[in-house]
Amino acid sequence: MAAAITVAFGLLFQHVHAAAVPRSINQRPCINLTLPVSVTAQNAVYDVVHVDNNIDAAAFAVDSDTYSSPNSTERIIKAVPIKDTFNISAQLCVPSHGLKKESLQIATHGGGFDKRYWNVEIKPSEYSYVDACLDAGYSILTYDRLGCGNSDKPDAYTVGQLPLDLEILHGITKMARNGQLLQSATGSRSKLSTQRRHSTRLYMSATALAAFSPSASSPTTEYAPQNDPELFGDFTSGYVVPGTKSAVQTGFFSTRRNEAAGVGGFEPELLEYGFAVRQPIAVTQLLSSSQLNLGVADQFMGPVQFMLAEFDFLSCDGDCKGAADPDVLQALYPNAKDIDVYIQKGTGHGLTIHRGADVGYKASLDFLVKNGL
Ligand SMILES: *[C@@H]1O[C@H](CO)[C@@H](O)[C@H](O)[C@H]1NC(C)=O
Ligand SMILES: *[C@@H]1O[C@H](CO)[C@@H](O)[C@H](O)[C@H]1NC(C)=O
Ligand SMILES: *[C@@H]1O[C@H](CO)[C@@H](O)[C@H](O)[C@H]1NC(C)=O
Repeated sequence: MAAAITVAFGLLFQHVHAAAVPRSINQRPCINLTLPVSVTAQNAVYDVVHVDNNIDAAAFAVDSDTYSSPNSTERIIKAVPIKDTFNISAQLCVPSHGLKKESLQIATHGGGFDKRYWNVEIKPSEYSYVDACLDAGYSILTYDRLGCGNSDKPDAYTVGQLPLDLEILHGITKMARNGQLLQSATGSRSKLSTQRRHSTRLYMSATALAAFSPSASSPTTEYAPQNDPELFGDFTSGYVVPGTKSAVQTGFFSTRRNEAAGVGGFEPELLEYGFAVRQPIAVTQLLSSSQLNLGVADQFMGPVQFMLAEFDFLSCDGDCKGAADPDVLQALYPNAKDIDVYIQKGTGHGLTIHRGADVGYKASLDFLVKNGL
């Protein structure tokens, strides 16, 4: 699951595009934040294989995907209410001459990565969504989801679950609206142009990038601290990670080409990068998507764009053509002002690390501009 949400704080917008400015990673107008996010959520105790080594990890993956195993709802033993404050590592980037001063994008990465997913350091002018936003004049907040990167890594069986993840995104969005982001700045604020205190009307646009639950066993799954003690030594029981470069390729990359469009495949150094920045995920996070109870968003009046990767193995078994039914999407967002489905040609699940990433970024940013955000 990966998504970018645009929270806009007014109607000021201009039909002007900023010229693209090449910049190195360290020259970006960005600061690091540790956000203390207070949340309540309804999690669950699951009957699940406990993972304390690689043998357990493979057993977990096979058990999860065995057709006669209980499904995730049937595995629930009891509900667990969570009420706590978690430290979330975030990065806020604000262009000095932002043309979209009234908007902030908040980007959530999917399982298997952290916030670096949005800020690829190889050929950033092609692959970094953060740079694409800055060049178009947008501010963007990226963060490490609970249980990976530099954010807190709680118990993988009862705490690291999707209902809590959703409330954390909600909490971060509220902090942004209330002007509370910079209160927890750990770096120099002088790198940023001043952020206004936002409290005005809200407009939201969700650019949802394929929110489906991956099968646990498709990529070879290993116990994180055993897979790489140096990278993942601080992860505890129940955290698993795609174990090899081939596992990352199977899950997130496609070698297929869309011949008609003449696009497809990936650059090998992006696979190296994807493997280097891979991140563990809690076993119950893989199980808990059916507990999200997302329902119908009938109060949402903003625009929604769904982005799918044409050859997505994790979400669509390798081919997303026809995967999005416009009638179903309309029923989920009955009052959205604009619903768009964009299929990015010739790419696998990892949209930001595939050839043509920048084509998809343009489609998202054009959609926002078209909708006045
Ligand atoms: C932000 O944190 C990253 C590590 O996550 C580090 O590489 C980078 O230098 C930090 N940037 C600033 C401005 O402190
Ligand atoms: C799980 O199985 C039950 C039947 O035992 C069914 O009612 C339910 O819809 C299933 N849930 C999921 C998420 O597949
Ligand atoms: C969160 O960060 C604060 C401030 O750095 C620290 O005092 C607190 O112990 C952290 N909480 C956890 C759970 O790590």
